[in-house]
Amino acid sequence: VRAEVDRALAACVTDVPDYPQPGVLFKDITPLLADHDAFTAVVTALASAGRDDDGTVIVDKVVGMEARGFILAAPVALALGAGFVPVRKAGKLPRATHAVSYALEYGEATLEIHQDAVAPGERVLLVDDVLATGGTVAATRELVESCGGTVHAVAVLMELSFLPGRETNPGLTVAALGTV
Ligand code: PRP
Repeated sequence: VRAEVDRALAACVTDVPDYPQPGVLFKDITPLLADHDAFTAVVTALASAGRDDDGTVIVDKVVGMEARGFILAAPVALALGAGFVPVRKAGKLPRATHAVSYALEYGEATLEIHQDAVAPGERVLLVDDVLATGGTVAATRELVESCGGTVHAVAVLMELSFLPGRETNPGLTVAALGTV
């Protein structure tokens, strides 16, 4: 699986300079999603962050952050036999929510979770495409904890090592399939 993941990240993630702003190098994962073997390999690898060393599933829910996190987290949830929970940008969830505002790599945002999406005591795996400043993960962790859940780990396709994603999230296990 490791070799397939390395191939998927090297061959199927396209760098787009100056998107969405000058000076930002955007990592486009849509070619990876369109390649069945690459998509399968990364979903399998991300899901391993929700298992212990014996392969036993140790999370109850998989949380995906809008929007690219949804695409990865939903198949990870199915692979683990766990429930999927969306964390969405402000105003998109129809029922009672918890909300947290945070700074992005570019701009600012508010994220929300349905208050009953994670039950007290449940263990949660966060899944997203990129860990950059870590603001999205920190806000999502706060949302899960507002529900009474605990975050077991975060699994991402790529970690941007020149940004403080890990430092922003002390004590959190980060499983990154690749480092940029
Ligand atoms: C991107 C990415 C992560 C987040 C990482 O999402 O998909 O969720 O930024 O950045 P951070 O570690 O600095 O918080 P974006 O807000 O661009 O949303 P999108 O997936 O809807 O484009």
